[in-house]
Amino acid sequence: MTNIVILTGAGISAESGLGTFRDKGGLWAKFNPAELASPRAFAENPARVHEFYNMRRENCVASSPNAAHLALARLEQNHLGRVLIVTQNVDDLHMRAGSVNVLQMHGDLLQAKCAKCDVKWRAALVMSKEDYCPGCGSQSCRPDIVWFGESPYHMAAIRTAISACDLFVVIGSSGSVYPAAGFVTAARGLGIATLSINLEEPSRSAAFDHVMVGPATQMVPRWVDQMLIRKGKK
Ligand code: APR
Repeated sequence: MTNIVILTGAGISAESGLGTFRDKGGLWAKFNPAELASPRAFAENPARVHEFYNMRRENCVASSPNAAHLALARLEQNHLGRVLIVTQNVDDLHMRAGSVNVLQMHGDLLQAKCAKCDVKWRAALVMSKEDYCPGCGSQSCRPDIVWFGESPYHMAAIRTAISACDLFVVIGSSGSVYPAAGFVTAARGLGIATLSINLEEPSRSAAFDHVMVGPATQMVPRWVDQMLIRKGKK
């Protein structure tokens, strides 16, 4: 019975219309991450940071899960072993597709938190620096996003899950940002089988035992079918 950990990146949501970061025309080609995705950027200009995440939140709410998200939910529901999705994405498309076992290591676009007292709540579609924290009443509300220079969420649980899995899969990630980019090397070092599903050959192809190249909406359902047929479940 294989336990599977799946790391997803912006590429799995690309065909749902949500931008990636480093592809041609990606978000970091249009916007400067240093001005929008760091605690200093928020301290210097909270209105600009809220505007950026309000735009992304609106796009997220208007988007729908695609065939890749739905296939991963089908895998979780039918695979006999454990299936854990560790996503770098801050959209909610995995959950809306029906996946339950999901860790959002870079935060959640639909959640807000207080920079002062750390209370969290469901974000309004449009947040502003004038919002009041429902916990302490201060006006220090920010998106519950892990910014550059901050520690990702769930790292202990992620490391434990990777060390206990039999297959580590990376879907739609450029492998540019640590610690997520280092997970495949850790898995390989433990003798765990590794698979890349990406529009292109992975930048570090030596880290992967298997590589599937093509759009996630085609490759992920194909891979899930292979996994479930092998297990006699469709
Ligand atoms: N199907 C499969 N893969 C795709 C598709 C697609 N339709 N479209 C793009 N990709 C792949 C690209 O080839 C690329 O390898 O998705 C990857 C997107 O890479 P990035 O834009 O770097 O996104 P990601 O790896 O998720 O970035 C990691 O960086 O800025 C931070 O916090 C941000 O979580 C993000 C992190």
